[in-house]
Amino acid sequence: MSGIPKSRHYAHVDGELLCDGVSLTEIAEEFGTPTYVYSGASIDRAYAAIDEALSFAPHLIAYAVKANSNLAVLARLRDLGAGADIVSGGELARCLEVGIGGDRIVFSGVGKRDEEIEAALRASIRSIHVESAQEIEAIEAIAERLGVEAPISLRINPDVDPKTHPYIATGLHHTKFGLEIGVAEELLPRILRSKRLVLEGVTCHIGSQIGDVSSLREAVGVTASLAKRCRDAGAPIRTLDAGGGWPIPYGDESDEFPEAQTFGDAIRDGLADGRADDMGLEIIVEPGRALVGESGTLLSRVIFVKDQPYRPDAVAGASHESQESGDKRFVIVDASMSELIRPALYDAHHGISPVETPPPQAARSLADVVGPVCESGDWLAKDRLLPPLERGDLIAIMSAGAYGMVMASNYNSRPRPAEVLIDNGEYRAIRERETFAELMRSEERG
Ligand code: LLP
Repeated sequence: MSGIPKSRHYAHVDGELLCDGVSLTEIAEEFGTPTYVYSGASIDRAYAAIDEALSFAPHLIAYAVKANSNLAVLARLRDLGAGADIVSGGELARCLEVGIGGDRIVFSGVGKRDEEIEAALRASIRSIHVESAQEIEAIEAIAERLGVEAPISLRINPDVDPKTHPYIATGLHHTKFGLEIGVAEELLPRILRSKRLVLEGVTCHIGSQIGDVSSLREAVGVTASLAKRCRDAGAPIRTLDAGGGWPIPYGDESDEFPEAQTFGDAIRDGLADGRADDMGLEIIVEPGRALVGESGTLLSRVIFVKDQPYRPDAVAGASHESQESGDKRFVIVDASMSELIRPALYDAHHGISPVETPPPQAARSLADVVGPVCESGDWLAKDRLLPPLERGDLIAIMSAGAYGMVMASNYNSRPRPAEVLIDNGEYRAIRERETFAELMRSEERG
């Protein structure tokens, strides 16, 4: 089927789509739809690949919790040995809830509130990644009040283009993220003089779904040379954090997809470029999507199919010849932008796989897969060659394990979906579907 990434964990067998041998039809029947389904084995495999790719140095895989913060997912990653990259007090609370130790947590983000900094210091986290001069002042004042030392790292904006969607590029000069190298160096003497601040690392994160591995190498090179200058100036630098951004295939790539090792090698080479390879640094990485993205699908049921005859007068700027098919087929499903906003927000591609295996000779035609939400931006796939789909059929929206459920909203008063984890041939709900009562729980009746 077109536009679907190859998967070791999702496969059509005996007429239906299975996840690690488990029937998605059965899951839909038991839990209803829309439902997020995750392959535990896929998370394990992704973790092992990244771990292996970094075997050249001591390292910590600090999972970017924002990608999927379900407690059961966090607990699984904890068991694998992961730490966490957090961006809020809420994410810190989740990590502490599942027992990820403070010494394995780093705290990123341009706008940390005082109470979040205080909670992080009380939890004795590994490092706070500072992104502005004012943040340094705030951390120092809070550490002083608590009578503790605050371990910090300088987050650099290396001004490197990750060749990705502009909304998820974070290491370019014009973005809000990180400190320019010159500014970071100016802050160094002030940090070194502080009795409360301990500059233990340098860090960068150039963006998500990095499209060109050489940009990661370049960014690490710039960050590594700063690490060296900081150490030479007397800072007790012990870590270099290369951020996240390791990509996953979504099924619309034209080129062969690089292995995790390619990204590990880029970090190793970047360290050497920055002449920091003999500093004995521990490497931290913050992958989110690469750990959980491919594990997940959003399972959804077709509500209606609507064929819209082509009307040239109604399509601005289009000619009949420019259309591959005259008519438009809308497959209206029970998932929407409320449950998976990535297509609407980033024009993101997600593979669409019918759960019942279509006969090989089934005619495919172009279709838009859309949700019930009252917005024309509410689409999940556009102009996709799909086999016939009928009311009641199930589809799996692939590669939805990262930035899926965490970005779900209640728009149109839609309860957020259930989440199901598949583990060793068995499955269990790791989050119940939200109820209407929960939707209204904290509101005044009037
Ligand atoms: N570290 C930092 C400091 C980050 O800001 C991020 C992501 C990551 C690590 C993890 O990036 P990953 O390895 O998952 O690419 N909602 C967007 C992605 C936004 C990512 C924001 N920061 C999407 O759906 O594509």
